[in-house]
Amino acid sequence: MQRHIKSILMIPVWIVALVTPAKSFKSNPLIGSSLLNALGLHIARVLLARAFVWFRWFVLSPLMPTNERKQFHRNGFVVVEEFLSEDQLKAIRTETKGHHGETRQMLQGDTATQRFLLTESNLEGKPTLSSLANNGKLLGRLRYGAASLMPPLLYIQRIRNGHQGGGADPQKNMHSDTFHPTMKAWLFLEDVSAANGPFTYVRGSNRLTTKRLGWEYQRSQSAKANPDGYSEKGSFRADANDLQAMDLPAPEGLAVKAGTLVIANTNGFHGRGQAEAGASRLEFWAYSRPTPFIPLPGFPFSWISRLQMSVLNWHWRRQDAVAARKNSRASWHLIPAEEMTDFKP
Ligand SMILES: [Fe+2]
Repeated sequence: MQRHIKSILMIPVWIVALVTPAKSFKSNPLIGSSLLNALGLHIARVLLARAFVWFRWFVLSPLMPTNERKQFHRNGFVVVEEFLSEDQLKAIRTETKGHHGETRQMLQGDTATQRFLLTESNLEGKPTLSSLANNGKLLGRLRYGAASLMPPLLYIQRIRNGHQGGGADPQKNMHSDTFHPTMKAWLFLEDVSAANGPFTYVRGSNRLTTKRLGWEYQRSQSAKANPDGYSEKGSFRADANDLQAMDLPAPEGLAVKAGTLVIANTNGFHGRGQAEAGASRLEFWAYSRPTPFIPLPGFPFSWISRLQMSVLNWHWRRQDAVAARKNSRASWHLIPAEEMTDFKP
């Protein structure tokens, strides 16, 4: 009975969530409803979000050079070689090596993602990294990719493959992050080869073709019961058969030189490439997931960025406290900085 009343009280919240980035087919019974999705709810959200994002891309088009924009929309990602010079790379690696501030790690299968957020305090004493974090040409491109003026979150990150025993890394399966375009970017600080798990993308899978829409429609009706553990949360996995059914090519690992910038629309299918155990890659990483159902690109104020980072830090500390009470470990748990920075600069 109590559960029934709670469900009734939650209905307005679930309805409002339909016009937010909420994506879980499991926790929102409207988003997960097979009936509503058979009637086209998921597809309506996909199409409406896409219409808004195209308008925002149009407004922000001066922020990315035309040839790069064409690449971005044709392939789902843009590759800008030699974005950083050898000297800048060397300086950033040295500054990263000298980092002693808060560093966190997430373990997924046998893979560890280690990172520190580029807050004002973490940027102290790192002049080259600070100047990169405020580089107008970089931020402009990232804002265009995200179709949002909101400042992206910036990190230094190392992906360590085969870091521990455990199952396969779920991020190595091709997936779409959510139902609308979102931006992730990698400015690689070390060379990336096929051996150290290159960023992998299904070229052209960012486009909303009729086959992709048909696949989304089918998947939306069964997603809440999908046992892969991620599709039910709104991040659809696509295997080789799915890609073939959508007339998409095989995933492609982007082996690139240090200093290369890659900006991707992670609504397209992507993942981490397979890697040799013990192999890793170091990168400057950016992320932005603006709310999809707004026509205007938001505001570029730096206080928004500071607020975002404070909220994130507060969230992590809260997770730390909860984990400590349960005698367990938060999903993004603290590690000694040296565990990430034990490399030759
Ligand atoms: Fe992803």
